[in-house]
Amino acid sequence: MKTVLVTGGAGFIGSNFVRYMLRVEPAVKIINLDALTYAGTLENLKTLPGADRHVFVQGDICDRALVDKLLREHTVDTIAHFAAESHVDRSIHGPGLFVQTNIVGTQVMLDAARQAWLVDKIVEPAVARFHHVSTDEVFGSLKPKDPAFTETTHYDPSSPYSASKAASDHLVRAYARTYGLPVTITNCSNNYGPHQFPEKLIPLMILNGINGRPLPVYGDGQQIRDWLYVEDHCEAIRAILKNGRVGETYNIGGDNQPPNLDIVHGICALLDELLPTSPHRPHTSLIQHVTDRPGHDRRYAMNITKVKAELGWTPRHSLQTGLRATVQWYLDHPEWVAAIQQQAGYQQWIDRNYAKRGGK
Ligand code: NAD
Ligand code: DAU
Repeated sequence: MKTVLVTGGAGFIGSNFVRYMLRVEPAVKIINLDALTYAGTLENLKTLPGADRHVFVQGDICDRALVDKLLREHTVDTIAHFAAESHVDRSIHGPGLFVQTNIVGTQVMLDAARQAWLVDKIVEPAVARFHHVSTDEVFGSLKPKDPAFTETTHYDPSSPYSASKAASDHLVRAYARTYGLPVTITNCSNNYGPHQFPEKLIPLMILNGINGRPLPVYGDGQQIRDWLYVEDHCEAIRAILKNGRVGETYNIGGDNQPPNLDIVHGICALLDELLPTSPHRPHTSLIQHVTDRPGHDRRYAMNITKVKAELGWTPRHSLQTGLRATVQWYLDHPEWVAAIQQQAGYQQWIDRNYAKRGGK
């Protein structure tokens, strides 16, 4: 692993991965290809460690000529493919973009890698690796007593987002089986932490709570997610890039499965503690139950035995420490928050998603 092409490296997980890799891999160079959609911002790439080993390129993963050029110009041996449309609610409002970016974009990346590594041999195929970052949502929804998802659980996606990610996973496996592309896949649970775009549950609740705005809980708030601190995810991907078996899939998760309402209560308690003079205390008074998400998956849980046993990876952060660090990060970075919230389209999205939901 000498030169890593990271796609989507200006988004939430991608930018945390770029920062983490530059810190822990002093010899690695990162080429960061990101279209800077609403979810990607150069604000996420300020003050990078080892910034001289980071090259940012604004561009689309669907642009085959650009991807071909970058692979050759930088003799890329590793691809860490994060770029995607990632928000379930946006996929319900507009599925077409999810098909284009998540399915077509992944196929473009795979085919460019196949041509560069297996046909033109810009690097020895034995040292090349295409890592695809996917989600636990491809497995669908668990019933209360169902066992956690394993790597062999059958796919049953519920939303246009998860269906598009499922299709991208199938394409990755198809390129491995048909052409021998050296791939690995991770299916990971819900991430949270610094730099997450405030359309997702945790940052939205933190920022609404700070500002005394309603905390919109979908339905009864008893849906269960498996929460993972983002740096733990980055560490898992690095472990797989270095020691994961080619062709394998690894489930990644946080071993944390609280209902959404517990997460919201946890954030409220942290805000009460960290903002002792806030006029919005107790922050739980801001909670409003609103109309549920259509097709809302009830429960996710990840069985992470394989990655623990094979690679010795295990999450370092508990939900308590991770949530505290996250709330503190948003309190400490008002300039980041302001830049995101002033972005064209942010308030329109909030209005579009929440206006008709109402309080319940
Ligand atoms: P994000 O929405 O924060 O960031 C996505 C990034 O991709 C943005 O920087 C955006 O500009 C970029 N992008 C979008 N379309 C692009 C295109 N056509 N070309 C180039 N760049 C493009 O997403 P995230 O939460 O950081 O998720 C990253 C990846 O991890 C996604 O593949 C997602 O499916 C997966 N994942 C996310 C989570 C989670 O909880 N957030 C969990 C498991 C897996
Ligand atoms: O499971 C992994 C997935 O986690 C990733 O693949 C996705 O990219 C990522 O967005 C995330 O999907 P979720 O739909 O689980 O995340 P979100 O933060 O949107 O919602 C988490 C839960 O909180 C979910 O049950 C819906 C609920 N929710 C969400 C929002 C935005 C609310 O109750 N209110 C809200 O306002």
